[in-house]
Amino acid sequence: MPRLQIFTVSTRPGRKGEAIARWFEQHARLHAKFEVEMVDLKAVNLPILDEPEHPRLQKYQHDHTKAWSASVSRADAFVFVTPEYNYSSPPSLVNAMDYLVHEWAYKPVGFVSYGGVSGGTRSVQMTKLLVTGLKMMPMTEAVHLPFFMRSFAPDGTFAPDEAQANAAAVMLDELLRWTNALAPLRA
Ligand SMILES: Cc1cc2nc3c(=O)[nH]c(=O)nc-3n(C[C@H](O)[C@H](O)[C@H](O)COP(=O)(O)O)c2cc1C
Repeated sequence: MPRLQIFTVSTRPGRKGEAIARWFEQHARLHAKFEVEMVDLKAVNLPILDEPEHPRLQKYQHDHTKAWSASVSRADAFVFVTPEYNYSSPPSLVNAMDYLVHEWAYKPVGFVSYGGVSGGTRSVQMTKLLVTGLKMMPMTEAVHLPFFMRSFAPDGTFAPDEAQANAAAVMLDELLRWTNALAPLRA
């Protein structure tokens, strides 16, 4: 089974992204076509890029980079659960991506984005520029969550409506198609 890594992108204390990533994880496990691995960028805890060589050379000097390289290399596909900061991609994600080059290539990526009226879509558009530079394939199908704060239950669990669950399933189906189609390029 291909391995899907679901990234929790936000690293803020009190972040909402953790609950949203948990909600999406349930749907990925129900979908049952990927081996699911959760990746929390807060736990990964990368400093601002501190490697002296260009990452395409893979001459990593720091243990944190070697560990990050091994982690990303394991994946066949990704879903980024991402907020929008100032109409843009969160720096935690941009920094994590900048650390590596080849490890990302030929892997499809889906987005679960959240925010106010935009549902995080501006952040996704920015991130799409970045991922295509790394030879990743961004999915058109996505889960966008506008006014996401209205979907939190009193106990803090994230519980959006049925339409969002359907969007998650549609995106996962498309992600699987691309994961399989790109497998020869990853080999
Ligand atoms: C630095 C910063 C910038 C933000 N910029 C936006 C924005 O451009 N668009 C938006 O919809 N929400 C924006 N917000 C509000 C976020 O949608 C909201 O705080 C959300 O909870 C952030 O996700 P997180 O809690 O997982 O970090 C911003 C929040 C922060 C902290």
